[in-house]
Amino acid sequence: MIQFSAPGKIHLLGEHCVVYGKPALISAIDLKVLVTVGTNSDENYPLLRQTINNLFLKNFKVKKIPDYEIASTMPAGSGLGFSAAGSAAIIGALFTHFKIDWDLKLINRLTFEAEKVFHGTPSGGDNTSVVFGGLILFQTGMIIPATSKINDFILINSGKPEESTKEMIAIAKSKIASILADHEALTSHLLAAMRDGDEKKLIEIFKKGQANLEKIGVVGKKAQKIINDLESLEAGAKISGAGGVKSGSGMILIYHKNPKKILQYAKDNKLEVFQIKLSEEGLKQE
Ligand code: PMV
Repeated sequence: MIQFSAPGKIHLLGEHCVVYGKPALISAIDLKVLVTVGTNSDENYPLLRQTINNLFLKNFKVKKIPDYEIASTMPAGSGLGFSAAGSAAIIGALFTHFKIDWDLKLINRLTFEAEKVFHGTPSGGDNTSVVFGGLILFQTGMIIPATSKINDFILINSGKPEESTKEMIAIAKSKIASILADHEALTSHLLAAMRDGDEKKLIEIFKKGQANLEKIGVVGKKAQKIINDLESLEAGAKISGAGGVKSGSGMILIYHKNPKKILQYAKDNKLEVFQIKLSEEGLKQE
């Protein structure tokens, strides 16, 4: 039995701007997609399967893709990089099944090809984060590994966005120029704050970063209300990923010195909540 996992990711800052060549701070997290070859194939995630199977048949001299199972500890389509993690885990498992020479850069490139099918013009940040893991500053294919003394965060699910990432990129496009410079500076300040373990600064930067994301129109009403509540509880909170406006905006990334306060808030408001850790390993055999 061959089993591979790839982690989910969160955007600490820089989402959307990274599509226009600016840096994004992204981390692999301890939620994951698990792919097992050699068991009876279930039929979940048909688009993901079809895309990767076709990609594999096109790129390698193989006749038939084996059955595999996909399991996930994270919700799909909520800004956690499910499509990238699922793609990477399937590709990694198939590389091993077909005894193809292990090449993480090639796996990353193929995962990026799959991301293009799902998202149109992705930056490549999601696939790079889930394949290589860790905390990274990503900028048009360039990867700078980063370190952080702050590694415990909380996610609250504001609901699955109705729009695709592709649609959200299109929505953000007309206003993105107004935030590019400021967001880039914030991203570099965040990198320093995390490296130094400066919680106060991190919370301030999350607030400013979130304000920029609101400005480009990617935050829906539901997420906005939750974020306002969380800010009044003295948390740093922002959407993470493409966002959404018609209904949910995906996962809200939260930092609070006292996580219990946030867990209580989520419980009182019946919101799905995850406690996560940053800088997880990337694609790996289980
Ligand atoms: O698809 P998501 O929600 O993981 O968002 C990815 C981040 C974007 O910057 C919006 C798109 C990209 O390709 O970087």
